[in-house]
Amino acid sequence: MKILVTGCGGFIGSHLLDRLLAREGVSIIGWDPDCKRISHLLDHPALSFRQERLGGPESLARLEQDVADCDWVFNLSAICHPSRYNTEALRTIHVNLFEAYPVIELAARLGRKLVHFSTSEVYGKTIASYLGGYDDVDPALYMMNAENSPLIMGPVRNQRWSYACAKQMLERLVYAHHHESGLQFAIIRPFNFFGPRMDYLPGIESEGVPRVLPMFISAVLRGIPIQLVDGGHARRTITSVHDAIDALMAILDQPQRSLNHIYNIGNPRNEVSMRELAEAVRQTFVRVSGETRFARHPIEIVSSMDFYGPGYEDCDRRIMDISAERNQLGWSPSRELESLLDETVAYYWRLYGASS
Ligand code: UGA
Repeated sequence: MKILVTGCGGFIGSHLLDRLLAREGVSIIGWDPDCKRISHLLDHPALSFRQERLGGPESLARLEQDVADCDWVFNLSAICHPSRYNTEALRTIHVNLFEAYPVIELAARLGRKLVHFSTSEVYGKTIASYLGGYDDVDPALYMMNAENSPLIMGPVRNQRWSYACAKQMLERLVYAHHHESGLQFAIIRPFNFFGPRMDYLPGIESEGVPRVLPMFISAVLRGIPIQLVDGGHARRTITSVHDAIDALMAILDQPQRSLNHIYNIGNPRNEVSMRELAEAVRQTFVRVSGETRFARHPIEIVSSMDFYGPGYEDCDRRIMDISAERNQLGWSPSRELESLLDETVAYYWRLYGASS
């Protein structure tokens, strides 16, 4: 079996490659401009790595050749850091919609199976948030279900939604190709995958504002306060990247059952507010390092305007229905929050903390 993976050098792509390349009879063509996270795999005989980004000059002809050579296409390439959605909206839309679309069009035209990475952000905000909260409300007003839930985004001036909107458009394009030309697809909506090799640690590995867990871990390692945006009331459900890769393997292994569906890939048992997550990260550092001082690591509140700038708006809560994933794929997540935080913090502690 031959698989094309775009964005193979990213956080999810690197874990996907680890798992795929451990299998017999699988060969990979991987595209990514960055190969730091997959440096341990570059000499693998079953990997052909193209250090290239989608949308680069002259890349379309090579992409067409690579799609033609493969049985499956995993389309992971994206800009997926919220700090960029409102500050670089044009680039966010360009990369996530226009540069990603040719992969879909080629998979449809050449009849290749497509696993397309979308986002839990396509759900946007919950209906319950507009009604004032979750107490005593019907779970249907906040539970995210791929078949029934509306997709609710804020006004255009809040450019936070540039990403979710581009991703939603791509989902609609995938679906339209399925209906009109028989494209076989699986759409993945990831719910906050965490694990080693996430994004980058700001101030240690690179500069910028990545997603929440690398922000919190970097703050602890650098001895600066963890910053909680708008008080840390937003809630997320946290998913181990290994559970996520298990779901992808279940899709790959049973195409007759798995294809032509949209999947919520997440762990509804791991729901936390961002304040609870900050406290859990402090406790994880205590467990991993054996140093009790981390329990008192400072946490400060910042406004979203100061942290992200104008045009940011938050998703209030993301709790998903995974009954279809259980039934369709025979998959359900098993890693609890404490164990996945232990694994992730221990990974960074070994790299940057243990000897300091
Ligand atoms: C992001 C991406 O937009 C999605 O593509 C992706 O599917 C999703 O992560 C994911 O990881 O699955 P979001 O959850 O909003 O969405 O991203 P984070 O940057 O991880 O923020 C989570 C929450 O933490 C937000 O409420 C944010 O305001 C808060 N936050 C972030 C802090 O309180 N402090 C920080 O230092 C960073």
